[in-house]
Amino acid sequence: MDKTVVPGYSKIGPLVRRAWWPDDPAPDSLAGRHVVVTGASSGLGRATVIGVARLGATVHMLGRNQDRLGDSAGLVRRALASTGSPAADLSTAVCDVSDLDSVHAYAEDLRGRLDRVHALVHVAGVLPPERTESAQGHELVFATHVLGPFLLTHLLRPLLRDDGDARVVWVSSGGMYTRALDASDPQAEHSEWSGSDAYARTKRMQVALAQMWADRLRTDHVAVHSMHPGWANTPGVTDALPGFVKLTAPILRTAEQGADTIVWLTAAAPASVAAGSSGAFWSDRRPRSTSFLPARKEPPGERAKLWDKVTTAVGVRPH
Ligand SMILES: NC(=O)c1ccc[n+]([C@@H]2O[C@H](COP(=O)([O-])OP(=O)(O)OC[C@H]3O[C@@H](n4cnc5c(N)ncnc54)[C@H](OP(=O)(O)O)[C@@H]3O)[C@@H](O)[C@H]2O)c1
Repeated sequence: MDKTVVPGYSKIGPLVRRAWWPDDPAPDSLAGRHVVVTGASSGLGRATVIGVARLGATVHMLGRNQDRLGDSAGLVRRALASTGSPAADLSTAVCDVSDLDSVHAYAEDLRGRLDRVHALVHVAGVLPPERTESAQGHELVFATHVLGPFLLTHLLRPLLRDDGDARVVWVSSGGMYTRALDASDPQAEHSEWSGSDAYARTKRMQVALAQMWADRLRTDHVAVHSMHPGWANTPGVTDALPGFVKLTAPILRTAEQGADTIVWLTAAAPASVAAGSSGAFWSDRRPRSTSFLPARKEPPGERAKLWDKVTTAVGVRPH
């Protein structure tokens, strides 16, 4: 279904696949666990917060703007109340993930308050209309999808390790299939910038980086996954791609359907296939191929080049 795109990415995907997919997590699977979610003020991030809060997690909602975060937390509380679930345990924090200083400040604050984190979920994403730069002068899409999440993963590593069964989930996109991994000009400094190029290039990088982190964090008992949510009707998609939404509205997934696999990966039992498949790329609760076309296969040496450029840009050297 993924190769034919529309059935796999639209709401047909989960409707058909749920007949075979693995069981839902136990209702209290995240009780007493701390889950950090970026991009929690909208769309799939908020749907993820609802999903993991319903399973008992204490959720740390990160976003760029305190008012939007507050509104989002209110919507989460109302969503749980409307289904008779216990009240959500939420906190909100302003952290602009494209701004490395903001990421450092948030991680330092959290490390001062908690001794373990069960899951870090990288949802924040952007598709800007023109090339802009982050606070440190990095191209914004690369900074938001790659540099910030990379640094946050590194800085929260001690808290994840101390959970003993932690997860990191990178929310990539099916758009990554349109690009091979290419680390030659990650910020479009020597080529013409286009939003869709920057988006697909960095979404492919997220999948490669998740696999590289999976190798490094295996001895810390931290599973690292990337996934694609299909096409979900969210404010991000409506704003960035209004024509696409007009055409596809009847078959788009809800945000909850888009977030299903994110929540499932976060909450899956330690002995489950999800927890035991660190490094996989998921959609609808199953590992999927990371490339279908020979032209999109990863060129040798590209990963090492990407790791080097990212670690240089963020100023840390994880072992
Ligand atoms: N919806 C889909 O069909 C789809 C498909 C494939 C992949 N995805 C991926 O899913 C993720 C969520 O997308 P969405 O559709 O839910 O979009 P959305 O409704 O626009 O949500 C994006 C979220 O990211 C936050 N964000 C953006 N830049 C940030 C930054 N620098 N620091 C902190 N937060 C930031 C936004 O915060 P503000 O409230 O401040 O704007 C917002 O909460 C993205 O990574 C996207 O690439 C979505």
